[in-house]
Amino acid sequence: MTEIIEIFRKEAGRCAEKIKKHRSVHVVSHIDADGLTSAGIICTALERGNFDYTTRFVKQLDEKALNTIADENHELVVFTDLGSGMCEHIKSRGINAVISDHHQPQGTLEFHLNPHLFGANGSYELSGSGSTYLLASALGKNRDLSSLAIVGAIGDMQHLKMGQLVGINRIILEEGVKGGDLEFKKDLTLFGKQTRPIYKLLQYSSDPYLPGLTGDEEACINFLHSLNIRFSQDERWRRWIDLEITEKQKIISGLFQYCLKSGIPSYKIERLIGEVYVLLKEREGTEMRDASEFSTLLNATARYDHAEIGLAVCMGDRETAYEDARKLLAEHRQNLVNGLMYVKEKGVTQLENIQYFDAGSHIKETIVGIIAGMSSTIVENRNLPIIAFAKAEGGIKVSARGTQDLIRRGVNLSEAMSTVSAEVGGAGGGHDIAAGATIPENAKEEFARKLDFFIGEQLRRKANTG
Ligand code: C5P
Ligand code: C5P
Ligand code: ZN
Repeated sequence: MTEIIEIFRKEAGRCAEKIKKHRSVHVVSHIDADGLTSAGIICTALERGNFDYTTRFVKQLDEKALNTIADENHELVVFTDLGSGMCEHIKSRGINAVISDHHQPQGTLEFHLNPHLFGANGSYELSGSGSTYLLASALGKNRDLSSLAIVGAIGDMQHLKMGQLVGINRIILEEGVKGGDLEFKKDLTLFGKQTRPIYKLLQYSSDPYLPGLTGDEEACINFLHSLNIRFSQDERWRRWIDLEITEKQKIISGLFQYCLKSGIPSYKIERLIGEVYVLLKEREGTEMRDASEFSTLLNATARYDHAEIGLAVCMGDRETAYEDARKLLAEHRQNLVNGLMYVKEKGVTQLENIQYFDAGSHIKETIVGIIAGMSSTIVENRNLPIIAFAKAEGGIKVSARGTQDLIRRGVNLSEAMSTVSAEVGGAGGGHDIAAGATIPENAKEEFARKLDFFIGEQLRRKANTG
């Protein structure tokens, strides 16, 4: 890894020199937590370096978006958390560009930072924000931005594969720890430790799914009562961070016993505890203190057309923008709950090698991927990839989510989505474990059939070669 990071830093230096030849930069980034933190990192670095900059956030860097960008004749465009899949299209439009991304590359470009080009895996060893952090570090004194890099990696769920951040992500984490910006520790992995009443952590637990507790507020309250946990203090709900260490231990061992009694396999129970990431310079009890809560706060902005709010939070606004983001977060949470309920009620269609649901316009296309990921906890067969369809402008948005086990058995969703979507006149890509595409309005059935076959082939190929 040390060799890879050295090569990466050298390339980052070359890209930084390229940027320094310009005064004005147009930043184009993705509308999720990793995209927002990437933009937050590069914009902060540009501001510190006295560059002029403008920003644009897109759902997808498709040809239409590239045409608009090319028509604007920017001095220099820096693409973050996207671009690697569109190298040839960027070149052919004559856009003067630097790419800092981690998606599977297609084609080549002279100033191109991407872990896949240097022997690291972009789905779990470096995120878009991590790549951009290394670029920012080459541009100037920006080591404090490591916190944002880690938030982006957690937003893309890069810690799940190994149960902790690894690869170049780990090196960035260590820089953050050294600088006093970050801390990592073993703790409860359930979402909301900084901001939510304790029973809500159980009520919304989806990984692991807690049968009899998940989704049932009263049962969660009773469970904590049975452990003699006090719920409120000074007329406010107590949060995980308000508990004494002995109370935390009581809850954890109570949960382990509860799960064992419910027959949950031990490898899933173990996921209740894991490495968590704390932003030490942020105020306790706010979303920004916890990398996972921070990333969800950001998703609640950009995925609802309010990237400017998320970007402002990334760049340090803890007043107006933070207040606005919290309002959006409440809506986002409700949408996730509703979306998951929709999938539960409607059920999924199983083919031989995939399962899918069609959300039509019931779930917003920008969050259907998150819901596809969460719905692994409610489907019967967890050994098939989950494919979600949702109505989008001028076509159908497809999101695909797999598991580590499927990857071991030969599935690569990025390859499958990009090949099969192209066959039906669409476009797609992403990572082995999570990918997406846009396909024409009437292509759903054909796409599902072809994807089912293609993934069957991936499994057969691996089974035959071992
Ligand atoms: O564009 P992009 O890189 O952001 O998206 C990565 C997506 O992959 C995220 O939405 C994340 O939720 C998903 N993912 C996942 N499981 C993993 C790793 C990533 O669902 N183990
Ligand atoms: O949108 P969703 O969260 O399902 O995206 C999963 C992954 O697939 C992301 O990394 C995203 O960048 C990628 N994707 C893509 N082309 C699309 C849609 C999504 O490469 N048309
Ligand atoms: Zn990303």
